Amino acid sequence: NTDALLPIMTGQPVIPVIVLDDAKDAVPLAKALVAGGLPAIEITLRTDAALESIRRVADEVPEALVGAGTILNGTQFDQAVDAGAKFVVSPGLTPELVDAAEGSPVPLLPGAVTSSEIMAALEDGYSLLKFFPAEQAGGAAYLKSLSSPFGGVRFCPTGGVSAKNADEYLALPNVLCVGGSWVAPKDAVTSGDWDRIAALAGEAASLK
Ligand code: 3PG
Repeated sequence: NTDALLPIMTGQPVIPVIVLDDAKDAVPLAKALVAGGLPAIEITLRTDAALESIRRVADEVPEALVGAGTILNGTQFDQAVDAGAKFVVSPGLTPELVDAAEGSPVPLLPGAVTSSEIMAALEDGYSLLKFFPAEQAGGAAYLKSLSSPFGGVRFCPTGGVSAKNADEYLALPNVLCVGGSWVAPKDAVTSGDWDRIAALAGEAASLK
């Protein structure tokens, strides 16, 4: 899992978190994000269009690395992999999800916030974790404190992360990348403003 996930998390500073209401937007959106320098994208299973969107990006935009987000159970893990997801993101981790991901070539980035959740994830072999909802759970200061007891754990904070505060997180020793929806704002997606999205992706891609 770590070997497959690490290049994705270190390959770009920001992983766009995407909510799509219409699968027809998936391909042009993915192309705009790739053009801006963010090939790895996370399409969340929060809408009926999500699986079809993942399928289209996997089939039609080979230069993108399409992942599935908001995976809450084993069934959704399997559906995402069937649709062509190259990585899977969950806000948490359950025994059912561990079972579904075990032996899959598609890596899982599970979420953890508390010490006990992190320890449980480590017991299941996961040391690369999502930290969600980052701002609301305690922000960069909280996440920084986790680096002392959990020196080997690396995080992707998401939730309330934006162009304004991403650098606070990216400066932490235990953060590899951040995730966020600000790169693909809903109004830009629905109006098809792909140039604006490519520009936002370009700015995000240059964060350090
Ligand atoms: C996620 O699932 O990672 C979050 O919903 C992204 O949070 P944001 O919309 O605050 O960026």
